[in-house]
Amino acid sequence: MITKARGVAAVLVLAGIGSAVWWVWQSGPPPGGAPDPALNMVTVRVPALAPHEEAGAATFDASCAACHGAAGAGQEGRGPPLIHPIYEPGHHPDGAFYAAAQLGVHGHHWPFGDMAAVEGITEAETAGIVAYIRALQRENGIY
Ligand code: HEC
Repeated sequence: MITKARGVAAVLVLAGIGSAVWWVWQSGPPPGGAPDPALNMVTVRVPALAPHEEAGAATFDASCAACHGAAGAGQEGRGPPLIHPIYEPGHHPDGAFYAAAQLGVHGHHWPFGDMAAVEGITEAETAGIVAYIRALQRENGIY
């Protein structure tokens, strides 16, 4: 039994090292780049925003919009629209956003590849982003 447990532990450690290396090596467009409206994948109606949603919008523009598009409309060749039924709360609850920002994402719904963790983003900033994205989703009939 001990040998088996050690074997499992070794596999877990190796898997951890493997994914860490993978995250370091993967590449994508620079997160700071500006989104290009010509690459939008969906049309998003932007509602009037509460102050904490506005704060989230500013963080989203700085850290996420290069790939996910202005107002989460997606960017062809870069990243998926978040104002999309795939990301409604029942399918991707708020925790998916915290995990994506902190740990990155192994791409599985779209052909864009993986998302790297976003350097230096805080939980409070991510909470603002979630509030912003949920407000946009509600305005566009996704809930
Ligand atoms: C360098 C491009 C890039 C940046 C910057 C980026 N993303 Fe992503 N994001 C992606 C890609 C690619 C996927 C994977 C889509 C798939 O499943 O195929 C993804 C997936 C996600 C998902 C879905 C997670 C899941 O569980 O399926 C969420 C939520 C998300 N991103 C939020 C964010 C937030 C919030 C930010 C900013 C803090 C951000 N992303 C910045 C490219 C990016």
